[in-house]
Parts: sequence; C-alpha cells; structure tokens
Amino acid sequence: MDLHLQGRQALVTGGSAGIGLAIVQALAAESCAVAFCGRDEARIQAALQTCQGLPGAVTGRKLDVRDIQAFGRWLDELGRLDVLVLNVSALSGDWGEALSTDVQATVACAEAAIPKLLRSDAAAISYIGSMAGSLAAPTSAAYGAAKAAMAHYMKSLSARLLPKVRVNTVSPGDTLFEGGLRDRVQREEPEVFAKVLQRNPMQRLADPAEVARVVAFISCPAASFVSGANWYADGGSVAHVQF
Ligand SMILES: NC(=O)c1ccc[n+]([C@@H]2O[C@H](COP(=O)([O-])OP(=O)(O)OC[C@H]3O[C@@H](n4cnc5c(N)ncnc54)[C@H](OP(=O)(O)O)[C@@H]3O)[C@@H](O)[C@H]2O)c1
Repeated sequence: MDLHLQGRQALVTGGSAGIGLAIVQALAAESCAVAFCGRDEARIQAALQTCQGLPGAVTGRKLDVRDIQAFGRWLDELGRLDVLVLNVSALSGDWGEALSTDVQATVACAEAAIPKLLRSDAAAISYIGSMAGSLAAPTSAAYGAAKAAMAHYMKSLSARLLPKVRVNTVSPGDTLFEGGLRDRVQREEPEVFAKVLQRNPMQRLADPAEVARVVAFISCPAASFVSGANWYADGGSVAHVQF
C-alpha cells in the first residue's frame, strides 16, 4: 500500500533511540522527510547513521522538548510540517518529571506546531501513549496518569482540529530494544522480566519497528478517516475491553 508520504515533512520528538528512532526510520522508508530531536549529540549522530540510504531525508537536532522557545525556533526553520509525532516521555514514576515532560512540554510542543500543521492538506498529530495509561500502576502511578491525561487531551484535540488535522494516540505495550527500559530489566532483574513476558500473550515483547509501522500508517494520508483513536500496539496484552 502506498502511504502517500512522499514529499511530506514529519517531525518526531525523541527520535534518536528506541521507538522514536524506529518511527523516524519507518517514515523515511516511505520517502517522508523527517526531522527528529534528542538531547544527546552522540546518540543523534548514531541514529542518523542508521538512516543513511533511506529514501526520505533525515535530520537530527540537539534539543530538549522542555525548552519550548528552542522548539519554536526549530519549527520556524523547518518550513512546512505535515506529520507531528510526539514521542518523548520522561519514562518516570516521579510526578514532577512526568507532569513537566509528558504533559506540559508535550502539550506545549503540540500547540506550537498546530499553526504550521493547519497549512498542510494532510496534517496529522500522532501521540505515543502507553498501555500503562489504562492499567493500574502501583509503582509508577505518575507515568500512567500522565499517559491517560495525554490520551484525553489528544481526543479533545482531535475534536478541536478536525477536519483540518487528524489526531491519534498509539499505545505500545512492552517493547524490547538494546539500551531500552525492558532491556535493562531483562539483564538486571530477570525475575521481573519473566513476569513482564508472562503478561504478553505473544510470549515475547514488541520490536520497536512493530510499533513504528502502526504510527507510520496512522500518521499518513492513507489513514484519512482515522482520528480521535487510541490504537493499542500491545500484542493483545491489555485484557479489558476498550471503548
Ligand atoms: N519502551 C517501552 O516498553 C514503551 C512501552 C509503552 C510506551 N512507550 C512509550 O514510547 C515512547 C518512547 O519510549 P522509548 O522506550 O523508546 O524511550 P527511550 O528509549 O528512552 O528513547 C526516548 C527518546 O527520546 C529522547 N528524549 C528523552 N527525553 C527527551 C527530552 N526531554 N527532549 C528531547 N528528547 C528526549 C531520547 O534521547 P536523549 O535521551 O538523548 O534525549 C530518545 O531519543 C515514550 O513515550 C514511552 O512512554 C514505551
């Protein structure tokens, strides 16, 4: 299927590693130009290396999404914008970190990008949530609450911006990649990792590319009638019915 992303411009927050990097690669593989950010220059350069040879042009920027002025300057330099992927999370159970990064900074980035997206004829905002947003999380309540709040904001944003901008959430399940959270758990806390594996009916965790393909589709013009959705890419691990 042609995703009709050729000639489009995407911006991915937190694209130098993990799920964000896989999203950058998936979009660039569809000939979409992609700009991504991260805070560490070495990780940005390593990520750019992995994108060499992909048909879409990829650029990386050293930028902390909590610096909304810097984010605004980046947007100004970018020219057009068709696809915004909000991927950064503090991945923290600390309330201050979860609220300032996952909620305040992410909302500020979305609001800053909206005027530019309104000029696109195929605009999409895709937020990377988590299945944690709909599960009780006694040891990381702040993270789950932030994800739930953002899924709510995205639903409201969809209602506010349609028909000009489609807005969706993609909620990954447990995702495994070198250097990631679950990789650390696998190495350092094998008994916890065994429990994580147990709650996954696929008997394995997701590869970031499996999440990224969902994000690329939901962000592309081919998904033209999808908005206000929260798509779970969780391998069936969330057992309750989602309404
Ligand atoms: N991994 C999972 O199992 C899982 C499951 C469900 C949902 N998710 C969600 O998927 C998203 C990505 O998770 P991940 O596991 O791929 O995360 P990750 O491995 O920590 O990668 C996060 C990316 O964001 C960048 N980043 C972090 N904080 C930033 C900031 N303040 N400003 C700019 N860039 C920043 C990181 O680079 P620097 O550190 O160099 O800045 C990196 O490129 C998150 O929203 C997370 O909640 C993940």
